[in-house]
Amino acid sequence: MPSPFDTGSPTSQPGWTRRELLHWSWGAAALALGVPRQPTALAQDMIVAPEGKDLIVRTPKPFNAEPPLHRLAENWITPHESFFVRSHGTVPEVDAATYRLSIEGLVERPQKLTLAELTSRFPLADQTATLTCAGNRRDEFPPPKISGVPWNAGAIGNARWTGIPLRAVLEACGLKPEARHIWFEGADQITDHGQTFPFGGSIPVERALAGNELTGLPLLATHMNDQPLTPSHGAPLRMVVPGFIGARSVKWLNRIIVSDRHSTNHYQADAYKVLTSDTPEAVAAAHPIHEYVLNSVIAVPEDGLRPRDGRLTLRGFALAGGAPGTTLRRVEVSTDDGATWTAARIVSPTREYCWALWQVEIPVGPEAQVACVRATDSTGQTQTRAIVRNLKGYQYNAWHKVMIQPS
Ligand code: MTE
Repeated sequence: MPSPFDTGSPTSQPGWTRRELLHWSWGAAALALGVPRQPTALAQDMIVAPEGKDLIVRTPKPFNAEPPLHRLAENWITPHESFFVRSHGTVPEVDAATYRLSIEGLVERPQKLTLAELTSRFPLADQTATLTCAGNRRDEFPPPKISGVPWNAGAIGNARWTGIPLRAVLEACGLKPEARHIWFEGADQITDHGQTFPFGGSIPVERALAGNELTGLPLLATHMNDQPLTPSHGAPLRMVVPGFIGARSVKWLNRIIVSDRHSTNHYQADAYKVLTSDTPEAVAAAHPIHEYVLNSVIAVPEDGLRPRDGRLTLRGFALAGGAPGTTLRRVEVSTDDGATWTAARIVSPTREYCWALWQVEIPVGPEAQVACVRATDSTGQTQTRAIVRNLKGYQYNAWHKVMIQPS
């Protein structure tokens, strides 16, 4: 099968590929119509991703990569090859044979458990849940450019996770009455501002104990889509916290610390907060981001070429907000800047903590036009066109737009 990044045959313009020319001319038209230019994979992006992945590399070191959007509309369960990777440091070498998970802090019986002990002492559970990075769609913020990984809209995926329910492990260790937050610490070591520390985060104890065998159960996952976790996704053991931003699903899990307060790890205490000021006081006062926000994206077509027959099928994904009990109500598309909306058809399961795939056929005229999508969830919230700028570029969820360009 040809790669979606095939650059085509050389053109008469030396040094430019057909795809680059298409991308550039589309970019100019999109700017004129007020659609943010989507970062598209060019040949230089295609460095080899680990584990045979078909991803667009956003930063090679640390490795951060996302799939081309059209891949995400193909399957409700995102195959491993198309699942984004977000890492703040290098992938640590964890020897599964000598691995021990430490559970400590405000527990009656602290423990250090091997993988064999974890998987034999506790019942395994499956949960399907969407993981999304808080910085997904960062590149759509209007200038000035926000620093951080320049994600398009592909830092999201839906997987079937298998592992040990966190609740079972905490109950076996016995939570002390003062327990309020469960901290997670990874085996990776990140160097930032001259200091080296592990990646970490925490979740409130109520969320750690929530969920059931069908949905919402935080897991110590060993498998993703029925395969053992790969190194870049956190092997041999990672957290998966349904409904929360990806940062709380700590990979290469080393320690669980039960505490009466939020984790003091940089990624909980300072980073992953929606900030409009970065004074120490403002950072300390801001609440760490926990639940992800309602969102929807047009995944097909990505670069907006319209077919000759004048009708076009748009396809994409939508995710309700991450609060318990929240489900998707509807997904709608507009081609007249939000004056009228056409309901899209949901073409996948709709489940709490999982995205849904949708599609809709729209008529297209001879002129270039903009299509945008919005979703509504069971809290009654509907996405708006408003862009809520924040210093780190988190939780972007304004209408996603693509330009439909005559071919
Ligand atoms: N866990 C560790 N130990 N180190 C990390 O850098 N990144 C987090 C989270 N867990 C991270 C981590 C972030 S920001 C996200 S969005 C998810 O992992 C991404 O998971 P994935 O790479 O499996 O898609």
